[in-house]
Amino acid sequence: MRLQDKVAVVTGGGGGIGAAICRAFAAEGARVAVTDLRKETAGQVAAEIRAAAGQAEAWPLDVAERVTVERAADEIAARLGPVDIWVNNAGISRVAPFMECTDDLWDTILRINMKGTFIGCQAALRQMLPRQRGVILNMSSQSGKGRQQPIRRLLRQQIRDHRADAIAGAGVRQRRHPRQRVVPGGRLDGAVE
Ligand SMILES: NC(=O)c1ccc[n+]([C@@H]2O[C@H](COP(=O)([O-])OP(=O)(O)OC[C@H]3O[C@@H](n4cnc5c(N)ncnc54)[C@H](O)[C@@H]3O)[C@@H](O)[C@H]2O)c1
Repeated sequence: MRLQDKVAVVTGGGGGIGAAICRAFAAEGARVAVTDLRKETAGQVAAEIRAAAGQAEAWPLDVAERVTVERAADEIAARLGPVDIWVNNAGISRVAPFMECTDDLWDTILRINMKGTFIGCQAALRQMLPRQRGVILNMSSQSGKGRQQPIRRLLRQQIRDHRADAIAGAGVRQRRHPRQRVVPGGRLDGAVE
């Protein structure tokens, strides 16, 4: 198994792509920390992995709240061991036509998608730098390929011995909000609550 006994943290692991990453990592032998804003769904994913003979535990956190991320990172290290892989997956994909985008929506997107990734990278590196090893994966998006690029560029420049990648491939359609519609070119459009 490719990840035998590696400790992997996945943010937003309680649903969607994050839950799929948790299951895939556990199937490869990793000890998985399923972290999410939604404690219950993170717990369900961890329980499901354990029922399939994998190793997983759940932690609640808000990626944009430093204190919750650092507390979870410390607890994970104490219970599962120092982190080898950190996936900054938690994010929101709320779409609004530009002139209808409110300050609140703008702030929320930047807070979770950008600040959350920044805090996650620091929490991961605090455990990886002393050991001079580790892998960080930052989820990006098809429509915003640049979202994680500044962080990725900084990490590439400053943390040369570590790997920080932004995934920006084709979209993964797992569900669509009723008010979203596909516009020509395959893009999703419309406001999402
Ligand atoms: N599905 C796609 O095609 C697609 C396209 C572009 C980008 N992405 C990105 O991939 C990632 C996962 O997408 P998804 O479709 O699985 O999303 P999703 O909404 O299904 O799941 C996101 C998970 O993150 C959690 N979460 C949200 N805010 C959080 C916070 N502040 N702290 C901790 N957890 C939080 C949610 O509870 C949820 O479990 C996101 O970063 C998203 O922007 C996905």
